[in-house]
Amino acid sequence: MSIIEAHNLTKTFRTLKRQPGFVGTIRTLFSNEYEEVRAVEDVSFAIEPGELVGYIGPNGAGKSTTLKMLTGILYPSAGTALVDGLIPYEQRQANSKKIGVLFGQRSQLLWDIPPRDSFELMRKMYAVPPARYAENLTYFTELLELGPLLDRPVRQLSLGQRMRCELVASLLHDPKILYLDEPTIGLDVVAKERVREFIRSVNSQRGTTVVLTTHDIGDIEQLCRRVLIIDKGRLLYDGSLTAIKQRYGRLRRVRFSVAAATPLDGLDGVLSALGPDVTLADGEDAGHFAVSFDPHSVPASAVTKLIVNRLDVTDLAVEEADLEGIIRAIYRREEGQ
Ligand SMILES: Nc1ncnc2c1ncn2[C@@H]1O[C@H](COP(=O)(O)OP(=O)(O)OP(=O)(O)O)[C@@H](O)[C@H]1O
Ligand SMILES: [Mg+2]
Repeated sequence: MSIIEAHNLTKTFRTLKRQPGFVGTIRTLFSNEYEEVRAVEDVSFAIEPGELVGYIGPNGAGKSTTLKMLTGILYPSAGTALVDGLIPYEQRQANSKKIGVLFGQRSQLLWDIPPRDSFELMRKMYAVPPARYAENLTYFTELLELGPLLDRPVRQLSLGQRMRCELVASLLHDPKILYLDEPTIGLDVVAKERVREFIRSVNSQRGTTVVLTTHDIGDIEQLCRRVLIIDKGRLLYDGSLTAIKQRYGRLRRVRFSVAAATPLDGLDGVLSALGPDVTLADGEDAGHFAVSFDPHSVPASAVTKLIVNRLDVTDLAVEEADLEGIIRAIYRREEGQ
């Protein structure tokens, strides 16, 4: 049985219509003109226990709003959510015991006290048995290499250090489900890697179901086997990453390095003779260029052979379809409609 179900989940915000400028601001105060924002519209999906799902989409797509309905913070305008047998926005307290939540932009730790004290508060709030709490704290502290950080006031921690503590805070009560809203935002590459590694372990070793929103392509590639793509409140795609690459990312590229002075005149014509999808991709950098092609109609070997026979190639690399480009294309396609 699915652990998270969204059935035609919809959220419409009704806000006062703003008028531009200073006078407009004053007018807005007395106005009763409303406008509606359809933040989430008719979204349905089901997530199985133990899955790690990426919920992605451009700014304002409706990701956080969906998570807020699933976590019980917001009431839907229409449709329903069912999380491990509970209706989250109606059974908030029971639901909160089952879930861990991290909103990367907001802190759940108290600023002036060390994380260890905040954790202790949470232990009491969630009535975690002391032995289990100690076990969890040790496990997470080691996995995230927190050590001495636990005893420094949160305000003295760097963003990456704080985010690791936030992760611990969201997991101390052994939730079945973990919702992460941009957990790697603002982190450097090393900190991102550590957070990803941690999320992966919690998911695989503890079987925690994870729903993650992110703008970071690395998060998606390294963590999520399945993604849901949302834009303008509507679900555009629900499926595996591999299928996305197959469906939208037909093209592949081979990058070539040649001596800087090598003329590339006429190459375009020769390449297009191989097939209609074979094109010279970028030649702006002297000595480097790439050829993109559809591997279903032209084999990579035919492309490389042609180039190697004509030019003095010093290096080459075949690149898989690049996920960032594919996702950009999916977002853009929607915009054009
Ligand atoms: N409390 C609110 N009142 C009015 N409008 C809101 C409210 N919260 C969100 N919105 C609007 O709903 C839409 C979806 O917002 P949401 O925060 O869910 O987007 P998001 O996908 O999380 O974007 P981001 O990637 O920027 O975090 C936006 O147009 C936003 O302006
Ligand atoms: Mg958001």
